[in-house]
Amino acid sequence: MPSLVYMAANYCSRYEPRDRILTIEEALLIIISHYSQVYLSKLRNYKLQKILIVYYSRHGSTASMAQQIGLGVDSDPACESVIRCLPGVSANTEQTQALVPDAGVPFADTRDLEDCNALIIGSPGYFGNMAAPLKYFLDQTSQYWLSGALIGKPAGVFTSTSSLHGGQESVLLSMMLPLLHHGMLITGIPYSESALNQTTTGATPYGPSHLAGQQGNPLSKEEISACQSLGKRIALLSNQLG
Ligand SMILES: Cc1cc2nc3c(=O)[nH]c(=O)nc-3n(C[C@H](O)[C@H](O)[C@H](O)COP(=O)(O)O)c2cc1C
Repeated sequence: MPSLVYMAANYCSRYEPRDRILTIEEALLIIISHYSQVYLSKLRNYKLQKILIVYYSRHGSTASMAQQIGLGVDSDPACESVIRCLPGVSANTEQTQALVPDAGVPFADTRDLEDCNALIIGSPGYFGNMAAPLKYFLDQTSQYWLSGALIGKPAGVFTSTSSLHGGQESVLLSMMLPLLHHGMLITGIPYSESALNQTTTGATPYGPSHLAGQQGNPLSKEEISACQSLGKRIALLSNQLG
């Protein structure tokens, strides 16, 4: 019986890092609080908060981060992540890819911005800046700037680079600029997230980052934790702002 309780508690707090074994009372409390939140949100007939995650990734590292951020968002019972990727851009102005990918994550459409409650954008670092496909996507959002559709909504950013001092912070800052013009409320990750002090790879207060190296290393424990932490944080803010 106690092992069943522990299993259920682990399920309910899937993404909470823990440094000790829970007491049976703590485990029961986690289960009760999780299910009362789910039940309450159903009772109030809440519409789930839609957290839109838009990214570009050529070799998969930024894509892995998006998935982890999505897990963080989805750990909040009142929120759902909507993950969308971006196609590459061409030096010509011709269309180079089908509008819908053959497989995998669907492509983002600027209309996805209309009904999102929060936005998280990610890109590999290209020479200290975001990659062109994300910039291209953002450059098509003038109508939402004009209508003020994104004003007051929470936002965050994430990146992957191949080298440790290859400009992660500047890439993260570069992605914040258009979001500020849209009037979004940008958040990073506070130092209460232990990954920020413990990491020897990525994870910054400006947002999650990943040190992919030349081979495209997998995400480290701290990088995963930072990604999930941003997802949870944006979900929480989105709930609080209604
Ligand atoms: C055009 C270009 C520019 C890049 N510039 C940088 C850079 O300034 N610093 C760095 O560390 N990595 C740089 N990289 C490497 C990518 O940021 C890195 O491989 C990233 O993890 C790729 O992410 P992805 O797997 O999501 O495509 C660059 C790669 C390309 C193609």
